Amino acid sequence: MSEWVLILGCSTGHGGATAKRLAKDGYGIIGFHLDRGEVKKEAELLKEEISKINDGKVFFWNINAASIDVMDEYIPKISEITNGQSIKLLLHSIAFGTTTNFFSDKPVTQKQMDMTVHVMGNSLLYWTQKLFNMQLLGEGSRILGLTSEGNYLAMDGYGPVSVAKVAMEAIIRQIGWELGRYGITANSLQAGITPTRALTKITDNWEDWIEKTKKRNPMRRTTTPGDIANTISLLLKQEADFINCSIIYCDGGEHRSGTF
Ligand SMILES: NC(=O)c1ccc[n+]([C@@H]2O[C@H](COP(=O)([O-])OP(=O)(O)OC[C@H]3O[C@@H](n4cnc5c(N)ncnc54)[C@H](O)[C@@H]3O)[C@@H](O)[C@H]2O)c1
Repeated sequence: MSEWVLILGCSTGHGGATAKRLAKDGYGIIGFHLDRGEVKKEAELLKEEISKINDGKVFFWNINAASIDVMDEYIPKISEITNGQSIKLLLHSIAFGTTTNFFSDKPVTQKQMDMTVHVMGNSLLYWTQKLFNMQLLGEGSRILGLTSEGNYLAMDGYGPVSVAKVAMEAIIRQIGWELGRYGITANSLQAGITPTRALTKITDNWEDWIEKTKKRNPMRRTTTPGDIANTISLLLKQEADFINCSIIYCDGGEHRSGTF
């Protein structure tokens, strides 16, 4: 069994919960995050907690994982950690982008669009290409990226991220299609609205979104990072080997319910 997983955006929200859960499952955790101040301290505490769970098999790097230079510098380190063995999972759980409307007092700029689509979409492709070229992805490896309902719904402030989500879904579909022959699968995981740090940055009305989501969701609650972590744990099992090029929903059925 591959012993290591790589989580981009490992410190809080979905990525943080997944890091903890997969450590409990026995995996070593290699994670990237980009945090300052209080959140940086939170990341350090999480790392210590994981270290206690899995006997120290944890590396956290506080650096921009969307940078090509960072990928080139750190992939050889990852290879050393895994002893050249392929990783079980590459998870993209980065939230970092511009949340502004296309038409407003400060309309989104080309630079902001390019940055958002790169960090939240295209960067997953470059990670996958580079890991594959270093033979760090192989039979049984999974590539997963988090997507949202904003991939097909228009929402206040979500335009640039929405474009990135659509790009990421297309990238994942194509990766799974091209690498399936090697036993490597790629899927998007669509989370329902989840109270995390990222949500508070999308809109000032996030508390209102949460209340409306609780009413709208068939299961009468919002998604938790733990729900996503549990689903990812399931998807790493051998029984999920044939799930490829798909969008998997973990949202209690929210996407089937009418909008606000
Ligand atoms: N919260 C929701 O409602 C929701 C719903 C569906 C999908 N998602 C998606 O889930 C993913 C994770 O979001 P979250 O809600 O857990 O947010 P979060 O803010 O809790 O976590 C974001 C993570 O990304 C890291 N990060 C940010 N920029 C980075 C960079 N350049 N390099 C490395 N790490 C970086 C942060 O350090 C943190 O670990 C995102 O892709 C988001 O769009 C969130």
